[in-house]
Amino acid sequence: MKFADDFVFGTATASYQVEGAHDEGGRTPSIWDTQCRTPGKIKNGDTGDVACDQYHRWPEDLEIIKGLGLGAYRFSISWSRVLPQGLGEPNPEGIAYYRELCRSLKQAGISPVVTLYHWDLPQVLEDRGGWTVRETAYAFADYARLMARELGDLVDVWSTLNEPWCSSYLGYASGVHAPGRTEPLAALQAVHHLNLAHGLAARALREELGDEVPVCLTLNLHVTHPLTDSAEDIAAARKIDVVGNEAFLMPVMEGVLSPELVEITREVTDWGFVQEGDLELCHQVPDILGVNYYSTSTVKARQEGEASTSGGHGETGVSPWVACDDVVFLPPEGPLTAMGWNQEPDALRRLLVQVSRRYPGQELMVTENGAAFSDEVSSDGQVHDPDRVAYLRQHLTAVAQAVEEGAQVTGYFLWSLLDNFEWSWGYQKRFGMVRVDYETLERTPKDSAKWYADLARSRDLDTVGEDWVAGA
Ligand code: NOJ
Repeated sequence: MKFADDFVFGTATASYQVEGAHDEGGRTPSIWDTQCRTPGKIKNGDTGDVACDQYHRWPEDLEIIKGLGLGAYRFSISWSRVLPQGLGEPNPEGIAYYRELCRSLKQAGISPVVTLYHWDLPQVLEDRGGWTVRETAYAFADYARLMARELGDLVDVWSTLNEPWCSSYLGYASGVHAPGRTEPLAALQAVHHLNLAHGLAARALREELGDEVPVCLTLNLHVTHPLTDSAEDIAAARKIDVVGNEAFLMPVMEGVLSPELVEITREVTDWGFVQEGDLELCHQVPDILGVNYYSTSTVKARQEGEASTSGGHGETGVSPWVACDDVVFLPPEGPLTAMGWNQEPDALRRLLVQVSRRYPGQELMVTENGAAFSDEVSSDGQVHDPDRVAYLRQHLTAVAQAVEEGAQVTGYFLWSLLDNFEWSWGYQKRFGMVRVDYETLERTPKDSAKWYADLARSRDLDTVGEDWVAGA
């Protein structure tokens, strides 16, 4: 099974997870700096203060990406590094940093794929209401316009938001993510204002850059199985589909607020914060729909007296699944990753095919896929991570099959280039194909990096890694 010559093999990171340099170069705190300073929020009290120190070590990381022969690097801009007050006066030093990074990537033949928002809202904007207020969506559009003007000649793909599901529901409902609030209404307001932010920013990018430069939106689409084919269990799975997926897909792709979502959440809100004309503003179909995929869930309808569950996304005791108390998440089965997530590669194939059928002609990219495993440095100084190699092989096979079935998938980004700051899990979970020693910040490519480089070169899943994986 071969990938086409123009299929993009890339890798991804995000600003707060890798940059460090939290108080350098004019950067002000984001909501994640605040979250990390709130006792009990992050495992081991870890912070992104230093992270992988990519802010200083990016030339080394660029060499690694180049050495692996990858075609694209997906990274995100720290909003508070380029606009320390969230809006208003730009910070030339912050802009210069990203210009230099993009310029060097381009020179090395690596496409910069830039995400504008990977969860690190400037704290000053959270202080004014964060994603619960519509002003934040307008501030985001101004920021997008500024970036288009400053970096427009260097960026190959612009992604507005990364996984707004996490920003809204984990940030404002379960509080596992920054800003750590646990208010169902705030979470739904955030859903809407993030959709609005995407729409306004996509419009600003298109106005500044024309239609040639692709605009992307990255969603973590949830694949949810009903435990049985009873009507109740099917309804439970559909509920998760609506709250998790339709909440974003319908406004952005179709310009519609899902009537099922309104019905499900009617005890929380009447959605009166959606103003006239908003859905038209949200309706900016991305040129590329980015799909982040890791695992699946199985749910059932809650029986009387049965305890509710938090839906497997961190244990604050509050579920991110607003208005879904009657849905029970089953414990994941099978060989789990270090995150405790199940592995179901074929669900990625089905998801990509399903999205393509729903939106014919829609270009898709797998903007994230990968796995954390408890890999260690072995006595030969190398990191042998056969579990990750197997995971990648299976999921890339699923992508290739989806393409064969007609899905227009044009790229795949391995999460992640480096082990990095895994949000509420701190540095405990390692997703990198390159190991980071957090004492010395030394980088060591794992076997999976070599395997992926081999695939990027040969594009052939039938022969990749045969030489050395078996005997490694
Ligand atoms: C999705 C997020 O975009 C990324 O930041 C995170 O590290 C990975 N999933 C793994 O959890």
